[in-house]
Amino acid sequence: MDHLPPQTTNPDSANPTKMKGIAFLEFSAEPEFGMESIFTNFGFSKTSKHRSHKVEAFQQNSILFLLNQDRGFAGQFRDAHGPSASGMGFWVEDAKFAHQEAVKRGARPFDPTETTKAAYDLPAVYGIGDSLIYFVDDPKAFFEKEFAPHDAPIEVEQKGFEFIDHLTNNVHKGTLGQWSDFYTEIFGFTKVRYFDIRGDETGLFSYALRSADGSFCIPINEGTEEKSQIEEYLREYKGPGIQHIALSSSNLLSSLDQMEGTGVEFLDIDDEYYASVFNRVPNVSEDHAHIRRHNVLVDGDEHGYLLQIFTKNIIGPIFFELIQRRGHDAFGEGNFGALFRSIERDQRRRGVL
Ligand SMILES: [Fe+2]
Repeated sequence: MDHLPPQTTNPDSANPTKMKGIAFLEFSAEPEFGMESIFTNFGFSKTSKHRSHKVEAFQQNSILFLLNQDRGFAGQFRDAHGPSASGMGFWVEDAKFAHQEAVKRGARPFDPTETTKAAYDLPAVYGIGDSLIYFVDDPKAFFEKEFAPHDAPIEVEQKGFEFIDHLTNNVHKGTLGQWSDFYTEIFGFTKVRYFDIRGDETGLFSYALRSADGSFCIPINEGTEEKSQIEEYLREYKGPGIQHIALSSSNLLSSLDQMEGTGVEFLDIDDEYYASVFNRVPNVSEDHAHIRRHNVLVDGDEHGYLLQIFTKNIIGPIFFELIQRRGHDAFGEGNFGALFRSIERDQRRRGVL
């Protein structure tokens, strides 16, 4: 594994679209898919609905998920991809400026026809797999203008997820550089890491990119052979897209305690994993037995550590990661081998390998 040095600050000049963070993620699925219970299992309450489109808002702390069941752009997107992540909102200083700047730098402007209109009154460009990147300069005003309190809200106890830590993209073999350039040259993301990961039979290359405002990361994966989990994703999703969304909790074990009984399934891990992990990462202050009971993965160094766990595929081939950072801003590289083997076991069970 080869690591580029972590970058912590980024001057204004390197934040060309004046990004401030993620305002929302948009998902698209038919009602019978049951996205609503997935979101509520993770502690998102259904709070609001769009004033003129079939879009519902699910919220937990500062995270906003929009579930779009309308036709228009999202309808066409799910016709092509099935249950999917159809768009994300970048929070920027000035939406109009950000859109112009992104287009000037090579982004393709969203150009809807009568049947592919978006649900929101926001400028947008095409992103990964022709999903949409919307620009929002005042997330609160946008939400109040376009959404109203839901007439049949579902309130659940929040489960401690506070923000989106990262969202990872899977891309076709040979296009990692191109997609990395997309985020770096148009939006000023910086490369923070490069990985070359081998499982028992398959592998992947990955770049981790940090947003210009520093608030979240987009790692990008490219598979190395036909049977790899990345290529499997690309076949199932019918193109590149979001592979997983990592939600941050400041107390992951408590979050997982609260998720018990919801039926959310997590990846298993090597039997021998816990024989060595607490030697490798010695400063973990959480109860080791509690970590082990939840199959939580641990990674870090002498300065800090992280706890993480991965669900099985849950929205088509998309899955969630749940993560708690304690002074460690990597992505669990020490676990990639164990994780990769776990996914290979799952692939073998499903007859893919
Ligand atoms: Fe991740």
